[in-house]
Amino acid sequence: MSKKLKNIYICDSCGHQEMKWIGRCPACHEWGTLQEILNDTADELNSLSSYQLPQILNQVKVDNSFRLTTGGKELDRLLGGGIVSGSVLLLVGDPGIGKSTLSLIIAGNVAKTTGTVLYVSGEESAEQTKIRADRIGEFSDSLYVIAENNLELIDKHIASLQPKLVIVDSIQSVFMNSLRATPGSPSQIKECTLFLIKIAKQQNIPIILIGQVTKESQLAGPRVLEHLVDTVLYLEGNRSQSLRVGRAVKNRFGSTNEIALFEMTDHGFEEVGNPSEYLLENRSQATSGSVIVATARGSRPIFTEIQALVTEAPEGIPPRQIAIGIDRNRLLLVTAVLQRWVGERLGNKNIFVSTAGGIESDDPALDLGIAAAILSSTRGYIFNPKVFFLGEIALSGEVRLTPDFNRLLIEGKKLGFEDCVVSKRILSKFQNDIDLTLYGIEHIRNLIGIMPIITNKDQEVNG
Ligand code: TYD
Ligand code: MG
Repeated sequence: MSKKLKNIYICDSCGHQEMKWIGRCPACHEWGTLQEILNDTADELNSLSSYQLPQILNQVKVDNSFRLTTGGKELDRLLGGGIVSGSVLLLVGDPGIGKSTLSLIIAGNVAKTTGTVLYVSGEESAEQTKIRADRIGEFSDSLYVIAENNLELIDKHIASLQPKLVIVDSIQSVFMNSLRATPGSPSQIKECTLFLIKIAKQQNIPIILIGQVTKESQLAGPRVLEHLVDTVLYLEGNRSQSLRVGRAVKNRFGSTNEIALFEMTDHGFEEVGNPSEYLLENRSQATSGSVIVATARGSRPIFTEIQALVTEAPEGIPPRQIAIGIDRNRLLLVTAVLQRWVGERLGNKNIFVSTAGGIESDDPALDLGIAAAILSSTRGYIFNPKVFFLGEIALSGEVRLTPDFNRLLIEGKKLGFEDCVVSKRILSKFQNDIDLTLYGIEHIRNLIGIMPIITNKDQEVNG
């Protein structure tokens, strides 16, 4: 190597740079996080920016052909309309969640519709990839696979194939010979990512990097990786169930509020076109503690079940509040409001609240549903399955209207709901021409009065 290598030290945790190694990062105060990095790749990356003149914003031309469709409507929507050319996408998820399967499906679709795709398999042999492909279906001859870990060689293959898309499975499994760091080490991973970003930007080829996670479900290797790439997609779900949730946690070319649902089948992934229908179909038999809530996720409303279980905390053991899929702070707020304004005795209770199907949301619009689920558990009410809850709760106990009520109510009706418990303000704001029975409540105290009306038993008596 004739190049002079200037070494710097970068903190794995926060990305802070130092010229010499020190034991503790002065920026984030973590110990032992500084890693030696060879500086030349970073320099080359900086030299990529070319001299340009400022343009009048109004006159900047937008080329819409720069997005590559993944072949899946939901996935394209999640990405903001497809994969942007020259962009680098990091797909992260637990082992066995389906990262390789999903990216092979994308590779197959792009090969079919657009042109050459190179699938670099650093973890499995070409035969193993073929066996996986056989489960999924038929592929076009434009899809190439190579089992290779050496990034310098991979670079050569990209140069000769000139693919429309490259997939690297996984970023932790590739290395560069020119680096002194051991393969799989944080500095190798970071340098390899920078090298691939350079290829993507210079040759205008989008690259999907697959990222492994550690036991704590954190991206393995330097956390700065998420800052380097354009888009970070998390694939989540319970491995014992077939539902998978794709979530954009970073997207330079779209919203990060979107989610997409997939079902893992015997032959790959199927997109769930209507998540609410899917989630409600799998709803548990109406029991106490179960309610339906509505939330607006990006361009699409989601209706899902929330379950609460309230139990006596054993003597001498501090009570616990466990939130799965919802924000714990919101659970604490709702619990406090119920204690203060409804007089519910929750101080010595264990409270568990979870959403169904692995859906995650910190939307305040769930507050009213969380409160109803807790009261349903403590008081034994079983709600009518055709009712849903929508509303934010203030510390004063006031029930507030949430911004997206209009489309959530309309969607609720479409999904077959008949009743909605919501802020009283709705009555003056919403022209109810969709025949939904609205129970407007002003204060959380009023929920107690409504509960007997919307129970299953009551429904049977009237119906
Ligand atoms: P995989 O894509 O290998 O996960 P990752 O790359 O995230 O580690 O998926 C592994 C699991 O998916 C494995 O248990 C088999 C299952 N699977 C399906 O259910 N259907 C399929 O069509 C394929 C190819 C795999
Ligand atoms: Mg894999």
